[in-house]
Amino acid sequence: MKFENFNILATAGYTPERVVPNSELTTMMTTSDEWIVQRTGIHQRHVVTAERTSDLCTRVAQQLLQRSGLQATDIDYIVVATMSPDYQTPAVSAQVQGNIGATKAVALDVNAACSGFVYGLQVVHRLLMGDSPKTALLIGGETLSRLVDWQDRSTAVLFGDGAGGVVLTSALAQDGAFIAADYRTMGEQGRYLTAGANGVDSPFASDPQPVLPFFKMNGRRVYNFAIKQVPASLRRALDQGHLAVTDVDYFILHQANQRIIERIAEDLTGSMTQFPVNIGQYGNTAAASEPLLLNQLVASHVIKRGDVLALSGFGGGLTIGTMILRY
Ligand code: ACO
Repeated sequence: MKFENFNILATAGYTPERVVPNSELTTMMTTSDEWIVQRTGIHQRHVVTAERTSDLCTRVAQQLLQRSGLQATDIDYIVVATMSPDYQTPAVSAQVQGNIGATKAVALDVNAACSGFVYGLQVVHRLLMGDSPKTALLIGGETLSRLVDWQDRSTAVLFGDGAGGVVLTSALAQDGAFIAADYRTMGEQGRYLTAGANGVDSPFASDPQPVLPFFKMNGRRVYNFAIKQVPASLRRALDQGHLAVTDVDYFILHQANQRIIERIAEDLTGSMTQFPVNIGQYGNTAAASEPLLLNQLVASHVIKRGDVLALSGFGGGLTIGTMILRY
């Protein structure tokens, strides 16, 4: 038997308890609830006070095991998509593997910023291919509040913390969820969105560089990149899957900015009906944004088994990724 596809067994999501409403940000920087809501659609975000990215991801992993009925020792792979790991090493995925006792799982992280979850789906898809069935946890988790300069209003109002994930299992080609995918990386535009510059301070450095922990973003550039590239990527994936936009039940887009989602919806279908949003509650949680939304929609029975979903992420790299699948 050849396993060339996968299925989603369960979804999960977790956000830290502390909520920061826009009104609280107005005490820290010159901004207003009106500006933030009008320009981004964000009302509040969840932020960590003591937890690290590995803690959020471990919570999600535990929920995924509980909801799928699997034991930690059943898991073959753990992939975590993150741009805000606790350490450069160990990887967050390895920390999760140790925390849950998934003794036979091989663990690795994927860093594709806000496209991380969709990039991770493709990585796991490949890992699950083979002659015997395998099982994987894919988790997108971020603590972006650590990468934000809380005095810089141009980025501080945008980001939030959280984690979400799925359990994936191998399937035969005709029985699986995967329909089509489209991925592009545009590294030549990477300077428009950076965070966590490591710096160079070795005694041998000819050109020492400072550590620059915080986000630096050319918001306009990223905005224009997203409204052009996301519809193009979705169209390429739809063509590949021989699907029309009306064949898709829900477009699960990266939640970066409500206006970006509205522009993409306008371009593709002329209406927001197929474009659920939760950015108002969570802000931009990068690799966690799509699995958090997916989990919310599954938990509230909006998404049902058999629905066709188009997931699309965009962001740092610059990266863009779309996967169309049947839930
Ligand atoms: N409160 C009040 N005023 C503000 C704020 C704020 N928080 N931030 C900026 N402004 C001001 C600016 O200083 C500017 O003032 P000026 O006209 O006097 O110079 C004015 O508001 C307009 O600023 P713009 O940057 O032009 O505002 P814009 O409408 O472009 O919105 C935003 C900015 C929300 C960042 C938008 O460009 C955006 O969403 N970009 C995309 C970001 C994104 O999607 N990132 C995703 C990837 S993230 C990742 O991969 C990790």
